[in-house]
Amino acid sequence: MKKNSRILLTLCFIFILKISYAGEGMWLPQLLKALNEGDMQSMGMKMSAEDIYSVNQGSLKDAIVHFNGGCTSEIISAEGLLLTNHHCGYGQIQSHSSVKNNLLKNGFWAKSKKEELPNDNLEVTFIVRIEDVSKMVLEGVTDEMSTKERQSQIDKNIASYKQSMRPLKHEEIQIKPFFKGNQYFMFVTMTYTDVRLVGAPPESIGKFGSDTDNWVFPRHTGDFSLFRIYAGADNMPADYSIDNVPFKPKHFLPISLDGVEEGDFTLVFGYPGRTNQYLPSSAVAQTMNVLNPAKIAIRDKALKIVDAGMRSDEAIRIQYASKYARIANYWKKWIGENQGLKKSDAMGRKHKYEQDFMTRLKADRTMHVKYGSLLNDFEKLYKEIEPYALTRDYYNEIVRRNIEIMTVASYMNRLESLYANNGATGYNGFKARLEPFLDDFYKNYRPEIDQKVFASLMEMYVNADIIEGVKGDLAAMAKKHGGFDKYAKSLFESSFVPNKNQMFKLLSADPKMAIESMQKDPLVQLAKQLSDAYDANVSKEYSNLNTKITDLMRIYMEGQMKVFTEKKFFPDANSTMRVTYGKVAGYSPRDAVTYNPVSYLDGAIEKYVPGDYEFDIPKKLLDLYETKDYGQYADSNGKVPICFLGTNHTTGGNSGSPVIDAHGNLIGLNFDRVWEGTMSDINYDASICRNIMVDARYILFIVDKFAGATHLVKEMKLVHPKKDAKVIKMEEPKKKKKRRRRRG
Ligand code: ARG
Ligand code: ASP
Repeated sequence: MKKNSRILLTLCFIFILKISYAGEGMWLPQLLKALNEGDMQSMGMKMSAEDIYSVNQGSLKDAIVHFNGGCTSEIISAEGLLLTNHHCGYGQIQSHSSVKNNLLKNGFWAKSKKEELPNDNLEVTFIVRIEDVSKMVLEGVTDEMSTKERQSQIDKNIASYKQSMRPLKHEEIQIKPFFKGNQYFMFVTMTYTDVRLVGAPPESIGKFGSDTDNWVFPRHTGDFSLFRIYAGADNMPADYSIDNVPFKPKHFLPISLDGVEEGDFTLVFGYPGRTNQYLPSSAVAQTMNVLNPAKIAIRDKALKIVDAGMRSDEAIRIQYASKYARIANYWKKWIGENQGLKKSDAMGRKHKYEQDFMTRLKADRTMHVKYGSLLNDFEKLYKEIEPYALTRDYYNEIVRRNIEIMTVASYMNRLESLYANNGATGYNGFKARLEPFLDDFYKNYRPEIDQKVFASLMEMYVNADIIEGVKGDLAAMAKKHGGFDKYAKSLFESSFVPNKNQMFKLLSADPKMAIESMQKDPLVQLAKQLSDAYDANVSKEYSNLNTKITDLMRIYMEGQMKVFTEKKFFPDANSTMRVTYGKVAGYSPRDAVTYNPVSYLDGAIEKYVPGDYEFDIPKKLLDLYETKDYGQYADSNGKVPICFLGTNHTTGGNSGSPVIDAHGNLIGLNFDRVWEGTMSDINYDASICRNIMVDARYILFIVDKFAGATHLVKEMKLVHPKKDAKVIKMEEPKKKKKRRRRRG
């Protein structure tokens, strides 16, 4: 008896553990009712699916905005006030900065709407509605078709469907594949382009901890910035104009002042970019054992050189800060991802899943015929594609990304071919776009740094075990010069490309003459040689094999969905709107280490290094801490919360996503994940994958107490959902009693 009850208890515990961790999945908002509503409510959500996504009435989705195609943002006032991450608005904040007026360093707070700063290249997109158009798109498509025939039928169907639609003025239509092309959804969107900067904390708050703390918990970053959407008098999208007015949203998110506790329901609503949850084990093995290590090693070298430069010279530090952060971001992510894949035994899990798949297939002859050979085919194809994929990564990382000058040199070749094909018109058209780019480029460019990166990475390229043909005569040239350092020195000294004045002088010349000089330039020649070599040896084979893999992936996805009928599938992220839900939860990354889910201002103070470029703290914030002047923003323990963790399944693109409580109020702002869980893009593991969010109260505290921008706080709607719920409960004692009696 005793033993039985213990077993029962253990089972219950495992079950509870399973549901309480439930976090996997990036769900389509229009399908929540059918797939997730019950689950969400059992986890504590008090809303209905219709409150989250509705076509007929204002719902949460009307407050969620795609921010410039890469991040997420949300509306938090009736006057179109928009909240996103500091790192999402970074480019805009930087573009309004100068040495004299450095908004990155000092922060920025518009005192009135008149002071809000317009931005040239910024747009935000709303979703009007989402519809399943699979039937239309796949009409006439058969299993017998070749990939090409299939795609051309689909393209035709999409074109004619789009034509039959009559979108309203300002509406746009997008049709995207889901589940690897087994389903298609249409998105009707509306895009606003007059979006102005309203506020940003200084970097020492908005980027506190910088690259050292990136992807890491405990975290103390106030990673937020504020914008405002402006519209024409009719509330519709309009180009920037002084006459535009603040946009009036269908819905905006109230902000909860009641904070979070471990176990609280959390919903993250946003635009995750890309995940790979359904890969075969052969693909995961390749990412983990071949591609990730190569990319990590390349960036390792580049980052060390840039870092040394940044440490030696303050001007270089400023010039390279943003570039360094960009390169370091995924370098660090891949390291975490690889460790996580190993630790969570991603391969073991995949193998087990594949065994189940095969066992189930055997029970059904037709299914076995259709899907039975897939895994072997993948195995073969991934083996075949491996040298091409690896070479491709080397080429992209070395020639196209980390040696900065190669990109510029390749633009010279582009000018040349445009001139050859379209004469002066083609040349001048591209030149007009190139000049502002180059202007920006040279502002933050140090040839002496890039020359070192060139020498180091090109040597790596030559020594790498990749397809030989892509290396051109790099090895011979290095030998001729007496090594890569000397070769790099000679190239950088003799080429005009690293030199801004020479470059602009050349561009101001007559196109024919300019091109003659370009053709003689050694860096331009090298860029052409390497790109031709890549095209001749890799491009075509890679893309042929990749098409085959993509095709198989569609069939494998279909197979998985047919075989595991008890499983709820969510489509891989593809930069479309998704909902993920989970709970506030800490985690234990390794033996004897456990992280609490909430971090406090006290922790930022512990990390404080005066004058440091990562861990400095503004004086005003130190003062507020000293005097404990926290207003209404402290936790019940008297401390100011900064960040918290949840089990929401997020990825790149979810930055700036709102974190919403059980009632539909904003409680936080998503911006990162924990390092040990970055493998969630390939192998989500509920026990260790956590997203990192800024606590909404910290945002309010900074806006109100630190910046004194009380007019912005007044514009928002601050609520007390937990306190109110208690009051309501006290008003309904009868109901509660009844339920208790029934349970007993
Ligand atoms: N890791 C986060 C994301 O992938 C934050 C990146 C920005 N912060 C940084 N220190 N680079 O976007
Ligand atoms: N930091 C990421 C972003 O910018 C979010 C993530 O990868 O978790 O979207």
